[in-house]
Amino acid sequence: MAKVLILSGAGISAESGISTFRDSGGLWEEYDISVVCNYDSLEKNEDITIEFYDKRRAEIEDKKPNYAHKVIKELKEKYPDDIAVITQNVDNLFEKAGMSAEDVIHLHGFMPTVRCRDEECAKVYDIGYEALETFNDGKCPECASKLRPNIVFFGEAAPMYEKLNAEIHDCEFFVVIGTSGNVIEVNSMARYSKHSILNNLEPSNTIAERDFSKVIYDKASNAIDIIADDIEAFLSE
Ligand code: APR
Repeated sequence: MAKVLILSGAGISAESGISTFRDSGGLWEEYDISVVCNYDSLEKNEDITIEFYDKRRAEIEDKKPNYAHKVIKELKEKYPDDIAVITQNVDNLFEKAGMSAEDVIHLHGFMPTVRCRDEECAKVYDIGYEALETFNDGKCPECASKLRPNIVFFGEAAPMYEKLNAEIHDCEFFVVIGTSGNVIEVNSMARYSKHSILNNLEPSNTIAERDFSKVIYDKASNAIDIIADDIEAFLSE
């Protein structure tokens, strides 16, 4: 497992023009999230749920990675075995910055893909930025069951968390960029790392600064050079 873990949230994509969840004007204010992001959303509100994700998928087509994505891609390229990149984001900006699917773990799913609803099949298809219904009439080519967004809804299993827990176990340098900590308890992770950096735009009432060796309240694209320097210094110790 890697010595350095970089965990990101919506804040790292904010400068690329993708709404965060909880900042003013974030996604939450436009949609009732309990209608479109819950484990029972597809069953109870299928049309508006598919529409919500179709809109979010289409909106990322013209979004570009920012400097923070690019620096992290370069760090991963330089230290492939020493750095793990894990994100809560479902956008493809790390991939657009040049990282391969194997280099980035998406904890909450991946927007350009859809998944067969049949749990036995559960095949995943990359449909890019298209609406779900335009791909094979919204049906799985393998078993003809309905497809769904390949996103983890609230209350659903999130299998990728096993990878996060495994990485945390061996991590000596924990970096948090652009997450309010509402879903992932980052303080306990910081406490077990020798070094840790928190980078957000402003304090979050769910993250205690005291557990982090360094706290940077600034845009990720401004903070990332400091973060990269500290990571390089640590890895060359
Ligand atoms: N640079 C760095 N941090 C930023 C920037 C920026 N340019 N802009 C905003 N932030 C920070 C904010 O300070 C905030 O702490 O990003 C964080 C965004 O928090 P949220 O909107 O809560 O997003 P996130 O923490 O990723 O949400 C986690 O919640 O709803 C679920 O599944 C969803 O993955 C999401 C999870």
